[in-house]
Amino acid sequence: MSVIYNFKENIKKEELDNVAQNIKMGKVVVFPTETVYGIGADATNKEAVDKIFIAKGRPQDNPLIVHISNIKMLNSIAEDVNDIEKKLIENFWPGPMTIILKSKDILPKNVTAGLKTVGIRMPDNDIALSIIESAGVPIAAPSANVSGRPSGTKLEDVYDELKDKVDIFVDGGSTNIGIESTVLKVEEDNTVRILRPGKISIEDILNLGINAKLDEHIFKDVKEGEKVESPGMKHRHYAPKTKTILLEYNSDDSIMINKVKEYISENTNKKVGIICFEEHENEYQKMGIKCITIAKKNNLMGISKNIFSLLRNIDNLDIDLCIVEGVEKKLIGTAIMNRLIRACEYNIL
Ligand code: TXA
Ligand code: MG
Repeated sequence: MSVIYNFKENIKKEELDNVAQNIKMGKVVVFPTETVYGIGADATNKEAVDKIFIAKGRPQDNPLIVHISNIKMLNSIAEDVNDIEKKLIENFWPGPMTIILKSKDILPKNVTAGLKTVGIRMPDNDIALSIIESAGVPIAAPSANVSGRPSGTKLEDVYDELKDKVDIFVDGGSTNIGIESTVLKVEEDNTVRILRPGKISIEDILNLGINAKLDEHIFKDVKEGEKVESPGMKHRHYAPKTKTILLEYNSDDSIMINKVKEYISENTNKKVGIICFEEHENEYQKMGIKCITIAKKNNLMGISKNIFSLLRNIDNLDIDLCIVEGVEKKLIGTAIMNRLIRACEYNIL
């Protein structure tokens, strides 16, 4: 049986000690970060890490992110950190940046899926930092969800699918950002390659005077047998069972609305739902579509915070098809669109 500790209002010392103790004993714990919930275990304990792969049903070739609470831990697991990497770390940690570095030997092979590199981040969340600090070991933690499902941004969203596989759940309420961290690596020519976009945007990196580019697979499907920089890119992600279509962003509201109107008139036999901006709700209701509003069109943080929870709920809406309104590909909008395009399995309107 798993237990739930409620740290929403405050972190309770005795329970925190218990979480730390359990992690040291090789148990698996679900805990909040500022991005999404993580399912974590002692990154230096092979058997504990195996339990994470089993709980998620995660492919063995997909490496885990290692979470740390101080720079001493960084130096214990990674080496050869160069000046650009140091600058990124100084600016973006604690925070939603996972940096791929050369791995030291102390990590078991399952954490890194046998790669010579390891993805590391220091989360900006007091509960997560306290757990890592109290356990005194780096914590390997992928997003808390069964593989292929949207990541969990509140405990209620993931409890049922993980309750039989996890020892302790730590409830910290809804996560602030709602989308997983930016995964990046610094290439030999000192350019940052963004492998998975997140809250730390390409604009944020360029603003530091560091060259940066998006990996070519961020908005593109990976072909069978194609080589990719990050194993996670190959795997199916976030997609509901209900057919879901991405409506491309346009600054002109009427262009977006008319596309939907046209689609509806060509598909009168289908029960259609739409995850839409507040500004468009009235228009879609007039067309008889089931509307789930997400936030205002320009409120990218509001959209980011709610998107996974809404994607999780699509299959409960009693509809044949769901349209999701896309956002502008700027700042965290790039990350939102990266997740949506996968959730919609590259179906675009
Ligand atoms: O915000 C987050 O990053 C959350 C929270 C819990 O911290 N974690 C998370 O983990 O999203 P996960 O496992 O769902 O995603 C990790 C991604 C995967 O796409 C994986 O392929 C990539 O990071 N990754 C990990 N290590 C890597 C490495 N050495 N080289 C390339 N990509 C790596
Ligand atoms: Mg994940």
